[in-house]
Amino acid sequence: MANIPASSGARSSLHGQWSSRLAFILAVTGSAVGLGNIWKFPYVAGANGGSAFVLVYLGCILVVGLPVMMSEILIGRRGRRNPVETMTLVAQEEGSSKRWGLVGALGVAAGVLILSYYSVIAGWSLDFIIESLTGSFQGKSKEEVGAVIEGLNASWQRSMLWHSIFMGLSVFVVARGVEKGLESAVRFMVPGLLILLLVLLVFAMTTGAFMQGLEFLFTPDFSALTGQSVLIALGQAFFSLSIGMGAIMAYGAYLPQETSIPNASITVVLADTFIALLSAMIIFPIVFANGLNPEAGPDLVFRTLPLAFGQMPGGIVFSTLFFVLLSFAALTSAIGLMEPAVAWTVERFGLTRRAAAIMIGMVIWFVGIGTALSTNLMSEFRILGLDWFSAVDYLTSNIMLPLGGVLITVFAGWFMTRKSTSSELGGDSGIVTAWRFLARYVAPIGVLLVLANSTGLLALITGD
Ligand code: TRP
Repeated sequence: MANIPASSGARSSLHGQWSSRLAFILAVTGSAVGLGNIWKFPYVAGANGGSAFVLVYLGCILVVGLPVMMSEILIGRRGRRNPVETMTLVAQEEGSSKRWGLVGALGVAAGVLILSYYSVIAGWSLDFIIESLTGSFQGKSKEEVGAVIEGLNASWQRSMLWHSIFMGLSVFVVARGVEKGLESAVRFMVPGLLILLLVLLVFAMTTGAFMQGLEFLFTPDFSALTGQSVLIALGQAFFSLSIGMGAIMAYGAYLPQETSIPNASITVVLADTFIALLSAMIIFPIVFANGLNPEAGPDLVFRTLPLAFGQMPGGIVFSTLFFVLLSFAALTSAIGLMEPAVAWTVERFGLTRRAAAIMIGMVIWFVGIGTALSTNLMSEFRILGLDWFSAVDYLTSNIMLPLGGVLITVFAGWFMTRKSTSSELGGDSGIVTAWRFLARYVAPIGVLLVLANSTGLLALITGD
């Protein structure tokens, strides 16, 4: 982080500031674009009926995701501390309770829990770099390609090894300070991913099932929609945009005062959504052309894309490049997932960044063992009917992030004065009015209704 003092901000961050507006956008894009777009979005869309899910997802991005993201950045820039300290500080300045700091603490916990399983999946991507290089997918049948991910999942030693390597890499990058590696990593990763996705899109068009894939994704069939799948779409919107846990708040703390928050938010949301849709448009034609199951679950991407690479000329090169870039995308997200916990430990306990990164990394690595073993040694283990990975994923994406998001927008919309928020959003304008309406009413009420509906609370209240 360059140590440039805030030009007009009331307070400056303890960790320095982004060197430019672009640096901030790159960092937030780097956190948003990750496994959520390429690995998770297609499989949850597939498991929840496709098109209706996609439409609900897009709605959530627009009316909930965008206002929550703007709220997080503006609170972060006002507080300029780690999320716990920022919420406490800004709440006190606005004449509210210090207890708002708990929202930050919820976020710190969510980041640790998410990265614990995220690291295991990122480990699959690392393993697939080697599989690609050694030609494991070239000219192979769907059964042979599927056997690769099955073999990895069945081996606790390999799952643990890659999980450990990925966590080691994350700690290494975070310990060195966020800016150095991050800016350049995102600068080649996002364009690189885009180019490879476009190559894959062209391939998807030649599978003969392209239209079938598009139909699956974009012809709404609302009969497939349940209260549960609406909640999952909402949770996916939070997950994919990295919001609801203070990560964007932590990044906002390093944002120069003159950068436009609405513009930055819209740029990131568009880039993130575009990449998720693109990857789904590639995966489903491959699924249908090969008679694979769209509801395959978390390993969907690891069964489909290698199959496609194995059938195209230059497949080894494209496949290797792809998994290298996917691993980088996961790494730039992992940095964001660790940032609230690391910044908090540094500020609260006066540790060095390096010591904090190592300590937090060890905690996350330990929690992640549950996920690394959930497909082998612990495959019979169940919490409320879910395996360890699914339980942690459900708790974080579908409960902690939406809840954190409601608290964040309610705080920004109701507990901060219009004067404070509009000064952060670039002066009173139509944008502020629209943001306030969404942040005060639409986003919180929408999220609470979805949460109440899927937990059966709504039925209890209405007596249905
Ligand atoms: N958005 C990331 C992805 O799509 C995952 C994620 C969720 C995240 N919350 C985050 C990343 C917070 C950074 C910070 O892969």
